[in-house]
Amino acid sequence: MAHSSVPTRPGRAAVGHLIDGRTVASDRTFESRNASELADVVGVFPEATREQVQAACQAARRAFPAWSRTPAPVRGELVGSIGRALEREKEALSRLVTREMGKTLKEARGSVQEAIDTCHFFQSEGRRLYGQTVPSEMPNKELATFRRPLGVVAIVTAGNFPIAVPSWKIVPALLTGNTIVWKPSEDAPAVAYAFARLIEEAGVPAGVFNVVFGHGAGAAGEHLVAMMDEGLIDKFAFTGSTAVGRRIGEVAGRNLLHPTLELGGKNPLVVMRDADLDNAVEGAVFSAFGTGGQRCTSAGNLIVDAPVYDDFKARFLERVKALRIGDPNKHPEVLYGPFINERFFERWEEHYRWGRQDGATLLWGEGRITPESRPEGFVGDAEAAFFGWPTVWEDVQPGMRQFQEEVFGPTINLVRVDGIDDAIATANAVDYGLSSAIYTESRAYAYAFKDGIEAGMTSINNTTVGAEAHMPFGGVKGSGNGTRESGIWVIDFYTRWHAVNDDISGRLQLAQMETAYVAPKAPVAVDALF
Ligand code: UN1
Repeated sequence: MAHSSVPTRPGRAAVGHLIDGRTVASDRTFESRNASELADVVGVFPEATREQVQAACQAARRAFPAWSRTPAPVRGELVGSIGRALEREKEALSRLVTREMGKTLKEARGSVQEAIDTCHFFQSEGRRLYGQTVPSEMPNKELATFRRPLGVVAIVTAGNFPIAVPSWKIVPALLTGNTIVWKPSEDAPAVAYAFARLIEEAGVPAGVFNVVFGHGAGAAGEHLVAMMDEGLIDKFAFTGSTAVGRRIGEVAGRNLLHPTLELGGKNPLVVMRDADLDNAVEGAVFSAFGTGGQRCTSAGNLIVDAPVYDDFKARFLERVKALRIGDPNKHPEVLYGPFINERFFERWEEHYRWGRQDGATLLWGEGRITPESRPEGFVGDAEAAFFGWPTVWEDVQPGMRQFQEEVFGPTINLVRVDGIDDAIATANAVDYGLSSAIYTESRAYAYAFKDGIEAGMTSINNTTVGAEAHMPFGGVKGSGNGTRESGIWVIDFYTRWHAVNDDISGRLQLAQMETAYVAPKAPVAVDALF
């Protein structure tokens, strides 16, 4: 791994996988480092073997019958206990998120709150989890639908939201009676480990919730995908890149599983000629540079209506030039911190090459922040980690790689359009469709946008980021496969409907063939009545 020359500090916790209620070690390990200070080792984590991943799946299978028969309100109360443990540890967890992932403390607190909100929502769902009663066409027979759990759920999550996004999957999956094998991101395993310990604290029975640490490609993540072919998994839930999502979808498809796939985005934020420009600039700055652009909901293209283009550009650039950037552990006032790690930085740095090749104009930004090349608002030690200049491009057009491809990092494209139809067509000219936003004071423009935009989520006069925890989260086109997370909608993806008919007639009753319909009498012609 990178930076392995820095000596490791023994962590306080003996970190192992959680398999069948036991802590399990691996021969191979990997480190997680403070995103803002790479010399600081947050923890050392085991790298799961194929056999360990398989053992976790088998443990989850064994635990399924008892957990699925545990009454849903009882499972709901356990979810409530997880929420209370998260509330108690919110501050410490938020600091750990900031240390390991590099987002600001304000954002980290928000992300932990998102997990708490998810627990609150699903605690009471245990007392609903409604099915329907349905009238039968036969006498002495009743119809009803029941939600049944799917079985073993495999979960693979990304490092940028190391607690909120896993909670969107783990909490409803547990509540609905499934058992779990979770492979958290290798980019933020310490937060995952802390979350797992709090889930255990809530009293989840052995085998119901298993965690295997490790990398994705050629490692634990791929082993977990392979378990679908071994018949050990009934549901796969993934947040990450579209390329990996497609591969998971292929394996799931041949096993007749319906995976949850929350994938990339290149989210448009439209600013119309009549927008409140102060509000639009504020929203654009946070959509582009909040979390250092490392959200799947971050804005990728700022699509600006011609009459306000120059004014918006001037105001936006003025804000960008003054942005505070630095180590959020030491400087709570920064808008954004470092890249999660070198891999994220390298991917971002590459886009400078495509941008130039595409013929886009670089308005602001010089790649990596270094002691020699640092924006005025940068605070702290540029060499302690990977920090990026806030980067702004213009003359970007549909068809350019710069316009099309998701870049996880602080960069944004300015795209000039003329009128609402052009704005919507341009916003839709990407292969993704996760989030979207429009700034306008016109009801007609806002209506046209929400009606015409190809996206799973749309904000009117708000940012592309910041979806609330009880609304359906997900995208269209390359952003997913139509599944949704959160709120009541996610329940459909962790349960199957069971249609039950209960016949007490004591004889063979054949629906459609023996239904006793009432026969109509001779037709009445109203014209002939008066
Ligand atoms: C993500 O980046 O994977 O809507 C999730 C938002 C957050 C979740 C982002 N609530 O920006």
